[in-house]
Amino acid sequence: MALEFSARVGRIPVYPAASSYGSEQAMVRLASNESPYPPLAAVREAIAGAAEYLNRYPDPSSTLLRKRLAERYGVPQSRIAIGNGSCDILLAAGEALLEPGAEIVHAWPSFSVYPHLSAASGATAVMVPLDADERHDLEAMLKEITAATRLVVVCNPNNPTSTALGFAEIADFLAQVPGHVCVIVDEAYCEFNVLDDPECSLDLLGAHPNVMLLRTFSKVYGLCGLRVGFGLCGSERLVQALDQVRQPFYCNALAQAGAVEALAHQDAVEQRVAWTIAERISVDERLRALGLSPAQSQANFCWFDLGGTDAEDAAEREREVMGGLTERGVLVRAGGALGKPGALRVTYGTTNDNERFLAALADVLPKNSTVAA
Ligand SMILES: Cc1ncc(COP(=O)(O)O)c(C=O)c1O
Repeated sequence: MALEFSARVGRIPVYPAASSYGSEQAMVRLASNESPYPPLAAVREAIAGAAEYLNRYPDPSSTLLRKRLAERYGVPQSRIAIGNGSCDILLAAGEALLEPGAEIVHAWPSFSVYPHLSAASGATAVMVPLDADERHDLEAMLKEITAATRLVVVCNPNNPTSTALGFAEIADFLAQVPGHVCVIVDEAYCEFNVLDDPECSLDLLGAHPNVMLLRTFSKVYGLCGLRVGFGLCGSERLVQALDQVRQPFYCNALAQAGAVEALAHQDAVEQRVAWTIAERISVDERLRALGLSPAQSQANFCWFDLGGTDAEDAAEREREVMGGLTERGVLVRAGGALGKPGALRVTYGTTNDNERFLAALADVLPKNSTVAA
């Protein structure tokens, strides 16, 4: 007899994991928006030091990490949430805020974890299409907010489309969102955004107790293997609610130690941002030379259409190009798994990684038709 699962298991989409895991071949891994740069020696040492005490449970309040974050961002410790990756905070927010009858508003295509929040809670998802430039359409999102809305997520820069909104647009949007609605501004990639100073959004917290800025050590700090993220919140109550719905000890001791140390090396962070932006400029230019039209990236990845005469043709191109790139040892992410068949999302890697990707792409792109849509 087959096991009987809850209805929510039937609703929750399976996370579209990249296909790179378990592969024995040395692949160029450009599928998960990771940092191509290894963790700093000082961070590795801090983790090794913490490993000596693994017979003890971690600090359930991540006290030192929250203290350091409070010093860096000027947000009181009591308004800082920590998570086992920022995904953990997103899922906890869904659990704390949503239930059947409630609504969540987010853009689409956007980060693939957002649909889990409605599916897991039984709330209704209102997914608002991006605008013609593949940016959030905040005006359309505002129109979808009702008395039943509990949560709005704005992903800035947006994954998978790499585009960002200016700070002023977000501030204007938040000024119009009713106070009963929690707004998570997911800023996983904000350090790569040159439209505004990434610290601008901190000003929003003073004015809006309903807002959380969601950030992570997974991207610019290159520590996604550790799983640690944080939310800078406009109110203490939100932090408490997130903790109420999770198991204690969600942030392990190695993650806490590594993150604390990583925060002390902002010069290295800035260096890595500069390297990534240099790669972004160069890769996007080469993509355009191939006849493609990458979106205006403000992140550590690019996003472009492969063209095609119709949806079927676009999906076929995606399959062919993905297959060709994998055969040549390059892993990228297919748009079909992320909400837009016929597009590709590619992380900027090291210069060598990017050369291999661009050479493989030039090899596999259809030669006899217009590539860009
Ligand atoms: C927009 C966005 N938010 C959140 C995350 C989650 O990151 P993590 O759980 O590693 O902190 C990701 C990861 O790719 C992301 O793209």
